[in-house]
Amino acid sequence: ALISMRQMLDHAAEFGYGVPAFNVNNLEQMRAIMIAADKTDSPVIVQASAGARKYAGAPFLRHLILAAIEEFPHIPVCMHQDHGTSPAVCQRSIQLGFSSVMMDGSLKDDGKTPASYEYNVDVTRRTVEMAHACGVSVEGELGCLGSLETGMAGEEDGVGAEGVLDHDQMLTDPEEAAQFVKATGVDALAIAIGTSHGAYKFTKKPTGDVLRIDRIKEINSRIPDTHLVMHGSSSVPQDWLAIINEFGGEIPETYGVPVEEIVEGIKYGVRKVNIDTDLRLASTGAIRRFMAQNPSEFDPRKYLNESVKAMTQLCIDRYEAFGTAGNA
Ligand code: G3H
Ligand code: 13P
Ligand code: NA
Ligand code: ZN
Repeated sequence: ALISMRQMLDHAAEFGYGVPAFNVNNLEQMRAIMIAADKTDSPVIVQASAGARKYAGAPFLRHLILAAIEEFPHIPVCMHQDHGTSPAVCQRSIQLGFSSVMMDGSLKDDGKTPASYEYNVDVTRRTVEMAHACGVSVEGELGCLGSLETGMAGEEDGVGAEGVLDHDQMLTDPEEAAQFVKATGVDALAIAIGTSHGAYKFTKKPTGDVLRIDRIKEINSRIPDTHLVMHGSSSVPQDWLAIINEFGGEIPETYGVPVEEIVEGIKYGVRKVNIDTDLRLASTGAIRRFMAQNPSEFDPRKYLNESVKAMTQLCIDRYEAFGTAGNA
């Protein structure tokens, strides 16, 4: 059944678990997520970015999610719009039937330029008014999701838009978070606590803590009724990187957020954990390996099925690690 993010994350908070929010662009990702949820009895958050809508087309994407709900009626599903760039974008998603939207007002409507706090409050508050009138939840974002290692604003290629910041400037400020929640009424808040988007999070194998657990605790104590969201939560599995590179890929050495640290974050209030890159890596690795080992195969179902299997296992691992399993 389709449910709102508020409903799902209130349960997660009550029982102390986290929910991975997987990005979805195609049939294979959607099936992998649902098969994994079915096997582990987990509630599901699927999220669609602007890029996903562009790739699949909004109607296909919408029906892909609706089809999942039809095939697995016993699993609670939250249909979430990832990184909305304006209230108008969020409004269109609400009209399409999404049960949750993210208004990312930390950036201007080009999705790149950092925006002022006032702008963020204004667009987010307007989105909340509209969404709540329709029973739809809202995620906001406060802080700069960048790389603490380089001090750059995180981008897929590791090159930031706005230059080098020092660590504390990039993290979400607990006092500002309290004001923001009061001013906007968001159900969930994406916070900057050491993660960045994409595969290139850390150039060296993390030895100590990459997440600022102290900051998560502080923010959580200021906004106990608002669910914390961690973007950029892929762990960048080294086994999949090795398979990709063994079978013709060329991905440089890179590291993600260790699963154990995400689990630690969940103990202190992180409820929604955004994962896209890990599914991309598993899918690519499985397809590369199959293609290399079966050079005469040309039925796309053969190699796409390998990608479904790889992504399913990754989803199962996250549902189990985050305590999502058993809570559908
Ligand atoms: O936040 C970024 C997500 O990984 C979605 O990526 O915009 O390429 O679909 P995308
Ligand atoms: P990753 O790139 O770490 O998978 O993060 C995805 C994300 O935050 C989507 O909003
Ligand atoms: Na989101
Ligand atoms: Zn994100």
